[in-house]
Amino acid sequence: MSRPRILVTRRWPEAVERRLCALFDTTLNLDDHRLSADELRAALRDCDAVLPTVSDRLDAAVLAVDAPRARILANYGVGYSHIDVDAARARGLVVTNTPGVLTDCTADLALTLMLMVARRAGEGEREVRAGQWGGWRPTHLVGTRLSGKTLGIVGMGRIGIAVARRAQHGFGMRVVYFNRSPVAAEQLAGLQATACERVEDVLVQADFISLHCPGGGANRHLIDAARLAAMQPHAFLINTARGDVVDEAALVDALRQDRLAGAGLDVFEAEPQIHPGLLALENVVLLPHLGSATRETREAMGMRVVDNLVAFFDGRRPPDQVS
Ligand code: DGY
Repeated sequence: MSRPRILVTRRWPEAVERRLCALFDTTLNLDDHRLSADELRAALRDCDAVLPTVSDRLDAAVLAVDAPRARILANYGVGYSHIDVDAARARGLVVTNTPGVLTDCTADLALTLMLMVARRAGEGEREVRAGQWGGWRPTHLVGTRLSGKTLGIVGMGRIGIAVARRAQHGFGMRVVYFNRSPVAAEQLAGLQATACERVEDVLVQADFISLHCPGGGANRHLIDAARLAAMQPHAFLINTARGDVVDEAALVDALRQDRLAGAGLDVFEAEPQIHPGLLALENVVLLPHLGSATRETREAMGMRVVDNLVAFFDGRRPPDQVS
């Protein structure tokens, strides 16, 4: 019997690509270029499964190919707002993701950004590399400490909770949060965290705000000019979720006008383009979407995709089916 034909849209960790090649008739993207809309359409027409990442935009126009052969989009990543799931469902395509395996690494990166922006690590590193450090002095690059401050979390899912645990147990931070639906008590075991009814209730009291909600849909520009204005002027905004959750232009305005102390961003509205206003600001730490970027996690994400595909082609429901 012929093996399912699959297309992997980017280079994946070697061990995962090897496993995919052993199990399926696999096309790899050997030069790791970003696939065009036409290349994605061709993949949907010619393959049984397409394995996209956040860098592939699978909107209704791309998914509207004539006579698609594809029956599953096995996404590499937990977030899938780059896929129009309604359009995919209408075309009979199953969508899967990779939850759980990137929780710790993404939470670690949120803390990295909090520390970097509050302790002015980016500024300091730029100064040293530019040969401009004049030596130790009491007033040099004085930042803000995390210990004892209030952390506000927007989106108290797996990653939000992991950030809260690190912040509270590592830095003695008070935690307040907003989540659309109630969070089960057992998920919050060992954590002192106060639920707020509205995003604004979190924003007004937090010294650090960390975003952990999905992107797209109603969450687009969840943090807009009005909500940025609700934040305290000494507060820092951290985003490891999706770029479109924040209105970047409004963020630039708020930072320029000192209505916010700084921002730590791992995700952007038009990746890989960065708003030029952000690039010009010293009190912003910018990382290139590194949340899940550890060897262990990237391999685990890939193996999770393999499990989803194996289940699907065996006629079982994939463990991480989202649509
Ligand atoms: C995720 O898993 O959502 C990461 O941001 C990469 O897509």
